[in-house]
Amino acid sequence: MAEQRTIGVGLISVGWMGKVHSRAYTNIPVFYPELGIRPRLIVAADTAEDRARYAVNVLGFERGTTDYHEVLNDPEVDVVSICAPNFLHAQIAKDVAEAGKAFWVEKPAGRSADETQAISDASDRAGVVSAVGFNYRNAPAIEYARQLVADGKLGRITNVRGAFFADYSADPRGALSWRFMRDLAGTGVLGDLMGHLIDLTHYVVGPIRSVTAATSTVYSERPEMPMGSGTHFAVVEDGDMKPVENEDYASMIVRCEQPASEGSTAQVIGVLEASRVANGPRASYGIEVYGTQGSFRWDFERMNELQLALNTAPHVGYTTIMADKEFGDFSVFQPGAGTPMGYDDLKTIEAKKFLLAYLGVESLHADIKDGVAASRVVSAAEESAETGAWQPVDEIAGTSAQGRSRQ
Ligand SMILES: NC(=O)c1ccc[n+]([C@@H]2O[C@H](COP(=O)([O-])OP(=O)(O)OC[C@H]3O[C@@H](n4cnc5c(N)ncnc54)[C@H](O)[C@@H]3O)[C@@H](O)[C@H]2O)c1
Repeated sequence: MAEQRTIGVGLISVGWMGKVHSRAYTNIPVFYPELGIRPRLIVAADTAEDRARYAVNVLGFERGTTDYHEVLNDPEVDVVSICAPNFLHAQIAKDVAEAGKAFWVEKPAGRSADETQAISDASDRAGVVSAVGFNYRNAPAIEYARQLVADGKLGRITNVRGAFFADYSADPRGALSWRFMRDLAGTGVLGDLMGHLIDLTHYVVGPIRSVTAATSTVYSERPEMPMGSGTHFAVVEDGDMKPVENEDYASMIVRCEQPASEGSTAQVIGVLEASRVANGPRASYGIEVYGTQGSFRWDFERMNELQLALNTAPHVGYTTIMADKEFGDFSVFQPGAGTPMGYDDLKTIEAKKFLLAYLGVESLHADIKDGVAASRVVSAAEESAETGAWQPVDEIAGTSAQGRSRQ
């Protein structure tokens, strides 16, 4: 039995993500007993009292509160999950960092590139470990595909294509949650779904260095839903209609830099789209990478499968392979291929990477620098959608797409 190490956990906000983070911490000793990590759920905060109570009665926290400062002030809390709506992330993350605690903030970390940079600066100043909720990079099939790309098995990468299409707001009566208000969310689908796709592109191919984008808002108003009730999948009959303030759909053409031989880089062109109002796809979050010797495509709706073409004649064209023990952390969750993992498992892997990083073990997790990198692309895309011009994206050192990942 490994030496047991207890890590005190605080949670800020008990919505969908707050519940998922809590389950992920609880899962750590179950799925990764060899690490000897014992998360102790200490205190959870939500302004909705019933959710703070749920954290205690159902999720297993020792205390609940409506004031998140109680989480920061508790000396037994070592790490904090920030699962609040986007507008609170920057202030909370700064407070958490100044309290000397590591944080795992949901994406998008800030509402803008400047806000995300401020979070990064605060964590640098305090010297605390950070993590950002870019969960799709943890999918075992993605980890496997990324390794194929890094090992040159697909040849020279020529182009990347991705679409993160959800239908959570395809119904025009879909609730006007905080996600649709600029003050509360920042961007719309650019920050919400495109950020994930940007992170996958960075992780698998390389950093995006310039972008041109177009966006549209398909439904200009929606029925209001109070904060702290329902989820963003809710449909509201006969609600008060209020304006939608950010985009439902976004498309971008990007130029990425892929690490090539002997420190040089190669340019890879990408076409990336995101929608929260698609009819047909439910949560179709896909990425396709094309190379001179092969290609892969992956979609979260079938996350345990990888379509792979390695073009070894006569087997030319895609073959479907299933995630198995050679794929990332698959065998931690299931004994063999064909028995699927699910969304929550990606968050358990993310919690493991975060807690390992907290203990000083680097495991290529998405941290605040990856958050800054994604937010710079989002901000450049917003600018381009406004002006119609290509926008450069400033390089950022120390992300997993650059230095950390290829070491
Ligand atoms: N990684 C992913 O796949 C993923 C999926 C969904 C959401 N998210 C992100 O997670 C974050 C939360 O999203 P969600 O869907 O869980 O939202 P949600 O609306 O389900 O929950 C938000 C919670 O925050 C609480 N809250 C509001 N003000 C508060 C305050 N001052 N102090 C404490 N709590 C407060 C609300 O009462 C509510 O319970 C967002 O940043 C979102 O973009 C990420």
